[in-house]
Amino acid sequence: MTPTIRMAADPAGAAAAAAKAVLDVVRAAIAEHGSATVALAGGGTPALLYRNLAMRGGGGARWDRVEFFFGDERCVPPRSPDSNFLLAKEALFTPLGIEPARVHRIEGEVEPPAEAAERYAGTLRRHFGVEVPRLDLVLLGMGVDGHTASLFPGSAALLEKSRWVVAVQAPSGIRPVDRVTLTLPLLNRANTVLFLVSGEAKQPAVAAVLGDGRADTQLPAARVSPQGRLLWFLDRAAAGRLCP
Ligand code: 6PG
Repeated sequence: MTPTIRMAADPAGAAAAAAKAVLDVVRAAIAEHGSATVALAGGGTPALLYRNLAMRGGGGARWDRVEFFFGDERCVPPRSPDSNFLLAKEALFTPLGIEPARVHRIEGEVEPPAEAAERYAGTLRRHFGVEVPRLDLVLLGMGVDGHTASLFPGSAALLEKSRWVVAVQAPSGIRPVDRVTLTLPLLNRANTVLFLVSGEAKQPAVAAVLGDGRADTQLPAARVSPQGRLLWFLDRAAAGRLCP
C-alpha cells in the first residue's frame, strides 16, 4: 500500500491536518453504513489530535454513531496517568460527551495481561462477529524505535497470524512494561490507517519507514500496510529529508 504523506510546519499543524482527515473518514463511514468504528492511538502525540477534534465541537460529525476501540493499552488501571484510555477520555470522550457504552477500552488492569487480551478479543468478537474486524479507521503513533501500537521490533507478536489481540512486554527502558496490543492481521484489515508522528527524535524511524529506499521491515510501523488507505501526518521535524 503506497502511503499518502502530509507534512505540516509543527506538531499542532500536523494534528490539525490529521483531525480533518479523521473527520472526513468518520463522516464517510457514517454516510456509507450508518456508523463508524475507530481504534485510537496511545502515547502522547495523539493528545493534540484529540483536543483539536474536541475543540471543533467535533466538527459536526455524528459522534453518537461512532464506536471507539483502542490499538493498545498499558497494563495499568484506567485512572493511571499511563493509561491510553484516560488520555482519550480527558481529551476526547468527555469534551464530546461520548457515551461510555460506545467506548470499548482494553481492561489493562485485568491480571494476567493474557486474560486482558482474551477479554478484548471477546469484546471485538461481540461487536464485529467472527470475521477479522474491518475497522473504518485505525489511528497509530510511532516510537523512536519504529514500534507502533505495542508491537515492538523483534517481538513474536509481529508474527501473529490468527489472534487479534495479544499481551506483550515492552523492551527494557520502555515503561510500562506489560501491554495489550492489536496485532498486524487486524491493523492491516482496516479501511484507513492514519499515523500521526512528530518530533525530531522520530526522524530516523520515519526515514527508515517512508524513505526513498525499501522500507526497513524490521520496524513494526513499516509492516502496517492496510488493505485500505495508509495516511501519514508528520511535522517538519519528524519528516526531515522527506520535506520538499
Ligand atoms: C503507546 C502507543 C505507542 C505510541 C508510541 C509513540 O501505548 O505507547 O501506542 O505506540 O504511539 O510510543 O508515543 P509518543 O506519541 O508518546 O511519542
